[in-house]
Amino acid sequence: METADNESLTSQVNHVRHVLAVASGKGGVGKSLVSAMAAVELARRELRVGILDADITGPSIPRLFGMTARPESSMVGILPPETTTGIKIISMNLFLDDSGQPVIWRGPLLTSAIKQFWTDVAWGDLDVLIIDLPPGTADVPLTAFQSLPVDGILMVTTPQELAGMIVEKAAGLAKQMRKPILGIVENMAMVTCPHCGEGFELFGPSHAQELADRIGAPVLARLPIDPDVARQADTGHVEDVQMPSFAPVTEALVKYVATTATAFTTPNSVPAP
Ligand SMILES: Nc1ncnc2c1ncn2[C@@H]1O[C@H](COP(=O)(O)OP(=O)(O)OP(=O)(O)O)[C@@H](O)[C@H]1O
Ligand SMILES: [Mg+2]
Repeated sequence: METADNESLTSQVNHVRHVLAVASGKGGVGKSLVSAMAAVELARRELRVGILDADITGPSIPRLFGMTARPESSMVGILPPETTTGIKIISMNLFLDDSGQPVIWRGPLLTSAIKQFWTDVAWGDLDVLIIDLPPGTADVPLTAFQSLPVDGILMVTTPQELAGMIVEKAAGLAKQMRKPILGIVENMAMVTCPHCGEGFELFGPSHAQELADRIGAPVLARLPIDPDVARQADTGHVEDVQMPSFAPVTEALVKYVATTATAFTTPNSVPAP
């Protein structure tokens, strides 16, 4: 990967109006799917969107979009490849010769990769850059909150109590960093029986509203487990997914993107960590 020499050049071409982080406490709750769906829906509204896959050791964004193109270098910086619908993507997996190759890095390398994904990439003009975070409150989420101008967060959880308890910790981190939580997305909230068509709550009753009251952010949506969505996502066709229950999240994001940007952000405007 290029070094940070390109920083001043990328700062001339990068005009990113909003930086949205998608976070969770626990792993496997659907952050990457929610990040991808948010990008897909905003792109359907003709907004200019990018995804920075901040999950360096477990990157899943390229797989959701069926993307393998290697990012190319240019005079101004690394060029993020675009998906079929024009979503710009940067992910560690796009730089590896073999996407199954493990990235065995400790904290300092992970944090410098995140910073480079921001400073050395020629993102260009974007309405929103979505950051797909790894779970928890460790190095990478912390670095993202400290060194990227995040101005909105979606918290993803599932109905399991454990997921709710841990997402509260992640929300606590966001609050400490003074980053606004736009809302909670409760994923895998229910499933429809393929035989009788009746819905049931696989992981038990929802705790989303209690959680919302505790962290002071609204429940934006409760998404069902949908085998069609799983199939499309896992085969690289997330851009074909139709998920009516996601609509309130899209509406909230459209409103957030329409608000005046808190900062006209370029890599140069990132405060020193
Ligand atoms: N609502 C849903 N319906 C069906 N499948 C889903 C749903 N949400 C997520 N999945 C599937 O569950 C798996 C885990 O989702 P995903 O990778 O988005 O979670 P994650 O929170 O990003 O995980 P990690 O913490 O490992 O990054 C994926 O295979 C995804 O396609
Ligand atoms: Mg993920």
